Amino acid sequence: METVLVVGATGNIGVAAILGAMRAKRNVLAIVRNQASAAKLFQHVNSKEGITIVEADIISEDGVQSVVDQVRAGKLPAFQHVYAAAGGAYGATPLRELSSSELRKFMTVNFESNFFAYRATIPYLLEQKGSTSFTLCTGSQGDIGARAAPAISQGPLFSMANVACRDNEETSVRFNEVYLGTRVEVDSVASQTGAMKASDFASVYTELLSRPDIKSCRISVATKDDLTDLKYKKKITY
Ligand SMILES: NC(=O)c1ccc[n+]([C@@H]2O[C@H](COP(=O)([O-])OP(=O)(O)OC[C@H]3O[C@@H](n4cnc5c(N)ncnc54)[C@H](OP(=O)(O)O)[C@@H]3O)[C@@H](O)[C@H]2O)c1
Repeated sequence: METVLVVGATGNIGVAAILGAMRAKRNVLAIVRNQASAAKLFQHVNSKEGITIVEADIISEDGVQSVVDQVRAGKLPAFQHVYAAAGGAYGATPLRELSSSELRKFMTVNFESNFFAYRATIPYLLEQKGSTSFTLCTGSQGDIGARAAPAISQGPLFSMANVACRDNEETSVRFNEVYLGTRVEVDSVASQTGAMKASDFASVYTELLSRPDIKSCRISVATKDDLTDLKYKKKITY
């Protein structure tokens, strides 16, 4: 059975990725920051079956790399797919008042974590004979610009996705960006706030895993209609 490595596994999007992977009959290798986060994950997913937990600091240079090293050493399950959903830093400081340290914190948590995940896992995915995939979650805040630091930290994710789509177009790695135009939250929170439920958003990843034709694309998700009838478009057309 194939395995999906999930980075940011304990968050709203990470939980959706795990549920989506499980429905697609994949095992999961979930990176968590500590055991308290692992407990949160199991509570949201409501199962431990097929999920292997590994602790690592995803915002440090070598956090995800240490996981890949353990996989190579046979200490953790091999994986064929990666879902990067690290981040979640949110704030409302106006642009004119944003300090350098606050901006850097947003860039580290929301952007660098996903970049580190890409840099650590792509060489490993490329070594494999079969088809592999890397999926990155981004959000429309980067285009809307209503909140300075969350918006700015999405910009480099969009650009990283452009580069990755181009770099992997001719490789065996199916890179895609899932662009969210709505708020997704774990079910227990979403049922109170009215946001899209992680268990509903999960179906996008289930579908994406079964669609080898979707490669180097942005998949846009804003409404319930987008959950099963995927709206996708090549990111790089020239
Ligand atoms: N949710 C949405 O509706 C939405 C919409 C648009 C785009 N996105 C994209 O998806 C990303 C994740 O969103 P989310 O809602 O899933 O965020 P979230 O619920 O806050 O989850 C973020 C994940 O990153 C981990 N993390 C954050 N800071 C960390 C740190 N300093 N050290 C180690 N781990 C850390 C969290 O671990 P812990 O659980 O241990 O804190 C968690 O696994 C966003 O940054 C954005 O790029 C999400």
